Amino acid sequence: MAEARSVLVTGASRGIGAAIALDLARRGYDVGLNDIARQKDALEGVASEIAGMGRRAALHFADVSDKAAVDGMARGFLETFGKVDAIVNNAGILIAGEMDGLPEQVWDSVMDVNAKGAFMVIQAFLPAMKARGYGRIVNIASIGGKHGAPEQAHYSASKAAIMGFSRVLAQEVGPLGITVNSVCPGIILTDMGRVNLEDPAVRKAWQDKTAMARIGAPEDVAGPVAFFCSDDSAFVTGQTLNVDGGIVFS
Ligand SMILES: NC(=O)c1ccc[n+]([C@@H]2O[C@H](COP(=O)([O-])OP(=O)(O)OC[C@H]3O[C@@H](n4cnc5c(N)ncnc54)[C@H](O)[C@@H]3O)[C@@H](O)[C@H]2O)c1
Repeated sequence: MAEARSVLVTGASRGIGAAIALDLARRGYDVGLNDIARQKDALEGVASEIAGMGRRAALHFADVSDKAAVDGMARGFLETFGKVDAIVNNAGILIAGEMDGLPEQVWDSVMDVNAKGAFMVIQAFLPAMKARGYGRIVNIASIGGKHGAPEQAHYSASKAAIMGFSRVLAQEVGPLGITVNSVCPGIILTDMGRVNLEDPAVRKAWQDKTAMARIGAPEDVAGPVAFFCSDDSAFVTGQTLNVDGGIVFS
């Protein structure tokens, strides 16, 4: 039997991260599940679903904006699984606020989790990927990083940063057998997504703006992520894929 592939998914306790983790487990991956400590119960719930599929799941509690914790997580993951085939940088936060008057600390925390967090997770795992000459890095950005919406300037900046460094990293590590791609979800119904959907008129407006005429589910994001994690995308790198049901056409 072929050796199982291993993947780390950050922010895996709920929403898009949980859907990605469960989908990859269903496709035969062993999964390292990351989240912050206060998500313990939810993360354990995802782990037991994966165990129920006959796959291995390991819990890795770490705030992705804490370098020491991230480095410890990478060591723990590699001890558990022996290698890393793929990482999915999904952990993210959205704190709404107009640019005028936005507290510096809010700017910093959104950039620290969304942009620097992905950078630090990648840095922690790159030596193992380089040593093996193989790796798949998938970064969850957002269509908000392309055109954005009011009260989300800092969020938009953090997601544009991910797309930018992914394109450069793809060039740096391409010769080593490592691919780096970004996925831009549209409006997806999760705890975070609800921020955009509380007002029924706003929800309808988003629906009307979407070619598929519906709001996305977390599971809608999982298939494209699995493609980038797999060898079906072996010759695809530095790309950004909108997974938005048809809102942004570029
Ligand atoms: N929902 C949407 O409409 C939408 C659209 C575009 C992009 N995204 C992106 O998709 C990703 C997942 O979002 P979601 O909608 O599932 O949100 P969510 O809030 O439901 O889930 C985010 C997960 O990340 C975890 N997390 C937060 N801060 C963390 C940290 N510092 N370290 C580790 N884990 C942390 C949370 O605990 C949670 O489990 C995010 O990067 C988000 O920006 C979401």
